[in-house]
Amino acid sequence: MGGLKTIYRCQQCGYVSPKWLGRCPECRSWQSLVEEVTHKASGRLEPHGQAARPLPLAEIPMESEARFTTGIGEWDRVLGGGLVSGSLILLAGDPGIGKSTLLLQALALMSQKKKVLYVSGEESPQQLKLRAARLRIESGGLLIFSETSLEAVLDVIDHSHPQILAVDSIQTMHTMGLEVAPGSISQVRECALRLMRAAKDGNISIFLVGHVTKEGSIAGPRALEHLVDTVLYLEGDRTHTFRLLRAVKNRYGSTNEVGVFEMKEAGLEEVPNPSQFLLAERPTGVSGSVVVCSMEGTRPLLVELQALVGATGWTQPRRTSMGIDTNRVSLLLAVLEKKLGFNFGQQDVFVNVAGGVRLQEPAADLALTTALMSSYLDRPLPQELAVWGEVGLAGEVRGVGHGAARAMEAAKLGFTRCLMPGSNAERLSPDAGVVYMGARSLQDVLRMLFDGT
Ligand SMILES: Nc1ncnc2c1ncn2[C@@H]1O[C@H](COP(=O)(O)OP(=O)(O)O)[C@@H](O)[C@H]1O
Ligand SMILES: [Mg+2]
Repeated sequence: MGGLKTIYRCQQCGYVSPKWLGRCPECRSWQSLVEEVTHKASGRLEPHGQAARPLPLAEIPMESEARFTTGIGEWDRVLGGGLVSGSLILLAGDPGIGKSTLLLQALALMSQKKKVLYVSGEESPQQLKLRAARLRIESGGLLIFSETSLEAVLDVIDHSHPQILAVDSIQTMHTMGLEVAPGSISQVRECALRLMRAAKDGNISIFLVGHVTKEGSIAGPRALEHLVDTVLYLEGDRTHTFRLLRAVKNRYGSTNEVGVFEMKEAGLEEVPNPSQFLLAERPTGVSGSVVVCSMEGTRPLLVELQALVGATGWTQPRRTSMGIDTNRVSLLLAVLEKKLGFNFGQQDVFVNVAGGVRLQEPAADLALTTALMSSYLDRPLPQELAVWGEVGLAGEVRGVGHGAARAMEAAKLGFTRCLMPGSNAERLSPDAGVVYMGARSLQDVLRMLFDGT
């Protein structure tokens, strides 16, 4: 018996089958199984240098992890207050969203105090030099290595002992031990595992850049998310300049943190007041436009939401939405029809969130509903109105979290009227300059904003 074995692995979920299948029985994706040749495991533990043994909790020494800050406030905040040495961080996002740009900026700053190695499997040293020049990066100490072979990278780590390492991207790396293409799930996982070992053994902080595939997951599966200490997503719409850096997993900090950046010619710039930035181009006195106060982690964000309702020229009216779930739009249209007698049967409905922001909270429901009402009735909403709240199927307006933080942000930006769930309004202490309108149902909303039309 040789030591080689052929298996078939799903590139989406990692399911392993001894024979090829047209469809993965686990995640049901088609044509996702790829042949792999692996070495059979010996079934015995590799001898460890040091005998590892379990320790009673009380005997484990207390060590507070040392954190290293970059000076990019938004970046440090998302990492939980700085970079922890020996941690493995995945920076994920759509291709072209700005991962390499952000990383190069952060690494350059860190290289002023630490030894930093940037491994690029995508760009040549000349290309990186050009980018650095465009980003006006001056720190010359940053080490650059263009390589896609994991063995070569590990070799360089052994020789140059960096304290911080970045691999851009993990999908371009390959190890000789596996006879499958770079970017396939087993290559990505194997390379990440070996880099993790290097991080823990050498106490190196490692950033892995991961491109998100069409399905929205990293390298097919979410395989890497379980492995790493921290997962950061850089989000945004490529046609807009607004970017959110979000921690979706963090073993060293809160996952409620978001960093806000603007993409500029000279790289990603921190946005100190995101609400103001997002509202800069808001039109005045038009129907269908409303400002929603949405929470991104622990940060309130004021965003403009627009709806356009108009007579359709098609037999089947269109429902299009950008930045908000289309199912949510359909659901709220149904509620408006059933509870308030609106009729969208012959109306096209378009919804858009300004700035390329994606609203994922149910707290955007009430704003979406008021925007739809406003456009349907062709009645503009007051300019100084901010809205938040969840809407149920019975047309009831339900309370949402962080009421006080939302109200404070709205007041800070000069909004003098806030439409919110009744239960939220009850709990707010009165503010002299702001009118809190607590609604319990969509009928209340119609009465408060459109005189019960
Ligand atoms: N010469 C340039 N001038 C201005 N912006 C550029 C230039 N080259 C690239 N960009 C911007 O940088 C983005 C690419 O960012 P990058 O960090 O390479 O993305 P990622 O690493 O996530 O794929 C492009 O989408 C573009 O907006
Ligand atoms: Mg890149």
